[in-house]
Amino acid sequence: MQKPKGTYDIYGDKALEMLYFRKLAETLMNKYNAKYFETPIFESSSLFHRGVGETTDIVTKETYDFKDRGNRDLTLRPEGTAGIVRSFIENKLYADSLPLKAWYLGPMFRYERPQSGRFRQFFQFGVEVFGVSSPIMDAEVISMIVNLFGLLGLKGVKVNINTLGDSESRDSYRNALLDYFKPHLNDLCDDCKNRYEKNPLRILDCKVDGEKEIMKSAPKMIDYLNEESKNHFDEVLKYLDEMNIEYVINPKIVRGLDYYTHTVFEVEADIEGFGSQNVLGGGGRYNNLVENIGGPATAGVGFAIGLERLFLALDKEGIDIKELVRPDIYIISMGENYKALSLANMLRLNGFNVEMDYNNRNFKNNFKHADKLMVKFIIIVGEEEVKNGILTIKDNDSKEEYKIKYDDLIDFFDKKIGDNDEDYV
Ligand code: HAM
Repeated sequence: MQKPKGTYDIYGDKALEMLYFRKLAETLMNKYNAKYFETPIFESSSLFHRGVGETTDIVTKETYDFKDRGNRDLTLRPEGTAGIVRSFIENKLYADSLPLKAWYLGPMFRYERPQSGRFRQFFQFGVEVFGVSSPIMDAEVISMIVNLFGLLGLKGVKVNINTLGDSESRDSYRNALLDYFKPHLNDLCDDCKNRYEKNPLRILDCKVDGEKEIMKSAPKMIDYLNEESKNHFDEVLKYLDEMNIEYVINPKIVRGLDYYTHTVFEVEADIEGFGSQNVLGGGGRYNNLVENIGGPATAGVGFAIGLERLFLALDKEGIDIKELVRPDIYIISMGENYKALSLANMLRLNGFNVEMDYNNRNFKNNFKHADKLMVKFIIIVGEEEVKNGILTIKDNDSKEEYKIKYDDLIDFFDKKIGDNDEDYV
């Protein structure tokens, strides 16, 4: 038996990355007072048709649709926003005091051609904020991505930002596009001919026609913005400037989903040889989506990043998550297993990550094993150590040796490894 095309198993280093990322995301999200959400992996198909948009590639070509045994039309979620919005409405969360900042992390499903950085089951980390129409939240949401990448030490990233304006601006832009593309209709691919009728903005985003000459002189959204939309965008940029967040205004960013209004952005990997799937994450404002799905008019803004692409970027920059989650201490027991286990227990309760020798390996193999685990310190528990209560500790990086009294151990490791917030005792 083999896994389905475009999927992968998570274990070993991938599992480490995933768990490390989840923890980092949770810690960062707490700093923004964002709340964790989990919504079903499948939803009514109509939610995505209405939410993501009938004419998008995602809905027309990429969804996993099925009927359950009760003949209901269901779809594996291709993205997280529509489900969170459904939950926001169904649970009447709009009645609580807003804003609500929701974050989520989980698998999404799209029937796309698998390649490096593109899967059929992939993981997204995302945030959706409800109840703030001011540009301040567009900027805060962008700061979340930038800070997340900063915490991971990722440097080669570029924030591309654009605006699609409000409905009025979008209508006049739409008309300008219709006029512009009308004489060129025969030069466009079949999908774009269809998009011309239903959603001409999507033509700019076409993977087939996107690079053609006619795209270069197509009308630009920025020239069709009304006063309010222009002000909104200018304000977002001012907030970003004030936070020293660098960005590039890129009129080509239209996004592959229909729900956006005003600000849209994509963060791309700016790393040599990264490959074509270089958009690590994207998002924007969606002021009409809650209402379109049947809730009260509520402003929304959010983003999602693809974890496979993020991990690929870390890899390309030589950032090894294994280095960040090294076990603190490895205990070698020279036959003194009772002492060794109780010592491991005590150290764990004081917040340290401890692994030990359970199989009475010989000295040489123990050191080899400790190296393989990349442990920071080794404690040797032998007869002599038990008798006089002084332990031999080896710094596995510098190879320095220390003799430390049992009672001074925690102090010693707090100083060497860092006091841990997770002490349980
Ligand atoms: P999206 O641009 O469709 O936006 O997806 C966000 C990210 O998910 C992409 O930038 C990419 O990193 C990752 N991704 C998408 N498809 C795949 C795939 N087949 N394989 C691997 N990674 C993939 C959304 O999904 C919106 N819901 C974002 C959002 C939230 N907008 C507002 N709130």
